[in-house]
Amino acid sequence: MNIQSATAIAHPNIAFIKYWGNTSDALRLPRNGSISMNLQELTTQTTVTLDPSLPKDIFDLNGVRQTGDALRRVTDHLNLIRGIRGISTRAHIHSQNDFPANSGIASSAAAFGALTVAGVRAVGIEMSEKDLSRLARRGSGSACRSIPQGYVEWLRGSTDKDSYAISIAAPDHWPLADCIALVDTTNKKVTSTEGHRASSSSPVQEGRVLDAPRRLERCRDAIMARDFNALAEVMEQDSNLLHAVTMTSNPAVYYWQTVTFDIMQAVIAWRQTGVPAAFTIDAGPNVHVICESSVSSLVREKLLAIPGVQDVMIAHPGEKAKLA
Ligand code: PMV
Repeated sequence: MNIQSATAIAHPNIAFIKYWGNTSDALRLPRNGSISMNLQELTTQTTVTLDPSLPKDIFDLNGVRQTGDALRRVTDHLNLIRGIRGISTRAHIHSQNDFPANSGIASSAAAFGALTVAGVRAVGIEMSEKDLSRLARRGSGSACRSIPQGYVEWLRGSTDKDSYAISIAAPDHWPLADCIALVDTTNKKVTSTEGHRASSSSPVQEGRVLDAPRRLERCRDAIMARDFNALAEVMEQDSNLLHAVTMTSNPAVYYWQTVTFDIMQAVIAWRQTGVPAAFTIDAGPNVHVICESSVSSLVREKLLAIPGVQDVMIAHPGEKAKLA
């Protein structure tokens, strides 16, 4: 029996300038470009084993056999990869996360990053980083940013061919840390796929998208110059814009909890006293507090003192997705 197998690891990423809404939902072509940082200490490891004896794909996530939507998304993505090679051999997929899924910690980015790299190798294709990023984008938009290393920009593009992510700075360019304040790690109620679809119903979305080139430039410049205050200002504004859209979409979605807002207020106050820290929040209630690495222990301690903060995970700028 001809069994081919490959294993890859990928890290999730936290967006400083966020992706929200598509021009094509099917191709996951975004309304605006985005900028993120990979998170080294959080990892997804995925093994794809092609097995001609299987009648359909089998997907085990953290040791639990998956059915329904989770299996369908993985099968659809592998079908894209199998299609490139012109084969239809089914696969057994084992995936292991070392962080809570569906909690605003962008588990799908690491998941589809690792699945893409492992799947492409298992079917025996060589692919450039750009093409891996394009392909990962089809599984989950933000996954395209988990392919290159360090600080990453997703170039919006307008077609499947020119929408992909590139590294704009290596992980060691700027020692930042992401202190992730966990306030709730249960499955979120509204997925980002649904959120992207609803975004165009918000009157705020057009303004958010129109202003995106300005925010992208400010963020890129702040990263290049290692200017924390400039980064803080544009990152918090961008996060607030995303949540202004979700709260004014039809139906409205409120990702924040009371403690989410308590943390935002606290972070702003700390920065006013000279602590280089700023918040950003994805499609969930947990808060990513981005800070200079030198103050990460202090920020963690301060976060743990806020009632409702269950735990704080710390991650540093991460490597690219790669074969294990
Ligand atoms: O890649 P998706 O479809 O899970 O969307 C990610 C959306 C945000 O995490 C909220 C923003 C982003 O750019 O990562």
